[in-house]
Amino acid sequence: MSITEADLTLDDIDLSDIEFWAGPRDVREAAFRLLRATPGLPHFEERVIEDSPFPQGPGYRALTRHEDIWYVSRNPKLFCSGQGSNIGDMPQEMNEFFGSMINMDDPKHFRLRSIVSKGFTPKEVNRVEGLVAAKAKEILERVQAQFPDKTCDFVENISAALPLEIICDMMGIPAEDYGRIYGWTNTILGVGDPEYVTSYEDLMTQSLEMFTYAQALGEDRRANPQDDITSVMMAAEVDGDQLTPQEFGSFFILLVVAGNETTRTAISHGMKALTEHPDQRDLLYGDFETHARSAMEEIVRYATPVIHFRRTATEDTEINGTPVKAGEKVVMFYNSGNRDERVFENPDAFDITRPLQPAQVGFGAGGPHFCLGANLARREMTVMFDEIRRSLPSLRITGDPAYLQSAFINGIKRLPCEWD
Ligand code: HEM
Repeated sequence: MSITEADLTLDDIDLSDIEFWAGPRDVREAAFRLLRATPGLPHFEERVIEDSPFPQGPGYRALTRHEDIWYVSRNPKLFCSGQGSNIGDMPQEMNEFFGSMINMDDPKHFRLRSIVSKGFTPKEVNRVEGLVAAKAKEILERVQAQFPDKTCDFVENISAALPLEIICDMMGIPAEDYGRIYGWTNTILGVGDPEYVTSYEDLMTQSLEMFTYAQALGEDRRANPQDDITSVMMAAEVDGDQLTPQEFGSFFILLVVAGNETTRTAISHGMKALTEHPDQRDLLYGDFETHARSAMEEIVRYATPVIHFRRTATEDTEINGTPVKAGEKVVMFYNSGNRDERVFENPDAFDITRPLQPAQVGFGAGGPHFCLGANLARREMTVMFDEIRRSLPSLRITGDPAYLQSAFINGIKRLPCEWD
């Protein structure tokens, strides 16, 4: 695609084209502005994945306006998740195997979420607060000791390390296995980027390895409970019912993947935005207590680490006047909802004082699947930026990011940084 913002038309926009996502970000933003301004819900064909064993699906409608995303997300009876939450279709067993509860509807979803939520109560999140602070401090001390010339890759050494080490620690994964978890996560969310995933088979092999690892961990903690959330989840009961090791294995994949790459992405984009907007950085660093809450929400809005999730219409219905047939796929583009000019004043500006309402949709737009780890992610981001402004306030991004090639995660693979 070699078009510029000025001559962009609807016919130029193909949200299934990986080139669109790899292309210039201002063209992408312009495309979503145009889609938001155009009445109706445009239909897109699905991308053909070369060596996937599954046939190409029937296509999807794109939801780009905040209001439509909000409506669909909060009406799970009309727009379900049980047929898959990614755009492409997989057989039902595989949906649950890979997606766990993100690909389920009630009552199955409710049962599973009630059990695993026991690992994410405010009490559990508060319990890890001290751990998050200690890790953030340790990470910054480590980079200063490791890089005497005061420059390193921000993603590898800073933003990826915190969420990875926290979730592994919470789950009771030993430190020597962190590297394997990091590799598996990169593979599963790196679909579409040849640096991470070379073939469909490779993806399947690595997912199975991760599943087997998790199942063994779950079985072990049921037999020998320890002070970690794996033990809490394996012991939890809802109506006399416990998680099976298989269910835990699938949930583990969702949790570790969902919790790692997203938070890393938010911290990376956040550091980049604070470097590019020194007035906002000074405001935050100057009065962290006052601004931290809205600043973290603004970073998630501005970055929107998870680009989309899908729902499927369960009956003939309509969205804002546009008819949608039973079985049609609708895809919520959170990145676009978060830049909706009807909802956010000056949406392209990075403004850490932006009011919390109307809510940004980076963690989802409400409803039963709202991000289970939102409070943990907010806590990790807050603690990381607090630690940076205390112990390394001169830390800044010095070059262009290497973006992940993905239509699903707005990831940053590498980001050079330096400090004085
Ligand atoms: C900035 C970081 C994060 C972002 C932007 C993010 C974003 C999201 C989004 C958009 C959803 C789907 C919401 C929906 O369909 O309504 C989601 C679901 C989920 N997230 Fe997060 N997430 C983040 C961090 C985390 C963390 C740290 C964890 C756990 C350690 C986590 C665990 C989950 C789980 C388990 C689900 C599925 C919930 C369900 O289906 O009921 N996320 N997240």
